[in-house]
Amino acid sequence: MASSEFPDEKCMDSYNYSFDKNIIGGKVAFITGGGSGICFTIAEIFMRHGCRTVIGGRKLDRLKKSAKTLTDATGVKCVPVQVDVRKPAEVIAAVDVCLQEFGRIDILINGAAGNFLCPLESMSFNAFRTVMEIDTLGTYNVSKVVYDKYFKSHGGVIINITATLHYRGTILQAHVGSAKAAIEYLTRHQALEWGPQGVRVLCVAPGAIGDTEGVRRLSGGATQEDINRAIPIRRMGTRQEIGEICLFLVTDMAGLITSSTVIADGAAWLADGSEEKRMEMYRKFMSRM
Ligand code: NAP
Ligand code: COA
Repeated sequence: MASSEFPDEKCMDSYNYSFDKNIIGGKVAFITGGGSGICFTIAEIFMRHGCRTVIGGRKLDRLKKSAKTLTDATGVKCVPVQVDVRKPAEVIAAVDVCLQEFGRIDILINGAAGNFLCPLESMSFNAFRTVMEIDTLGTYNVSKVVYDKYFKSHGGVIINITATLHYRGTILQAHVGSAKAAIEYLTRHQALEWGPQGVRVLCVAPGAIGDTEGVRRLSGGATQEDINRAIPIRRMGTRQEIGEICLFLVTDMAGLITSSTVIADGAAWLADGSEEKRMEMYRKFMSRM
């Protein structure tokens, strides 16, 4: 049964394959934040392509339900593991579970994150620190443990899920923008230092993605129509789109891509809301010529 705070996750009713069904068959992905939202769907898409998964988060009940839902829909094994990414000892234990269960890790998705709207002037010390700890330190902690225990000797792919908030600066999001900016730059250092060991490291930076906790928390009263209008392609992204971008990035087709950020936001971060007005002014101006 779903709790009112956290609706049960659902898999897609049907799925059209663009890539070979077995393109990442036999691989194993460790996915933080995989019990819900975008990272749940990343897990689903990976599993639909033959990849076994470990999904990590703090809420074990929800993780267990999500793992069962994913396995029922795909027929592929998913292991739920309780872990707070802020706590290195828990991260080490969780990665050990993955290695005991599957004997390998090929892909790490760092998706665990926290967010809420808050102006800087009313943000407490602990509020800012909490988001930095979950997002930035969490990404560092999990990457370090997976690298030390497996990627250092076997290679692998890391995708850090970031955002576009820090490109222009975003009001009420200083904590998350700072945390995601740090992750983006950590990614470059990881790619540089770990490339020789066969590790590719990337960021995927989604814009507003429908049917997610992120959009539920951060819309700040804006309607779906308002959000869509502010995006040049006039729609939010979908969880499936982010999952499929990650799928491409973890295949050998993307073997040359490392250190980069794939921005998946319909060009939203470039828009400042003045576009329609300016276009209208231009048309009026031209009509008087
Ligand atoms: P979500 O469903 O709330 O996903 C966040 C996940 O992180 C949850 O499963 C949560 O599980 C886990 N988590 C939080 N704190 C944790 C901790 N300390 N240790 C381990 N796990 C922790 O939200 P979402 O909207 O799908 O976001 C997923 C990712 O996409 C995030 O990185 C977010 O910043 C990014 N993103 C989202 C959007 C959007 O439009 N939704 C846009 C840009 C970027 P527990 O509560 O069980 O720990
Ligand atoms: N506005 C201002 N401050 C807030 C806040 C809000 N909406 N929500 C939490 N905080 C502050 C708390 O008051 C606390 O600071 P304090 O000790 O000075 O009072 C600090 O942040 C930590 O809060 P706490 O609830 O103890 O942290 P937590 O570790 O249990 O949870 C959160 C972390 C706050 C990020 C929580 O929202 C969460 O678990 N989020 C995961 C899901 C999510 O955010 N999904 C969207 C991803 S885009």
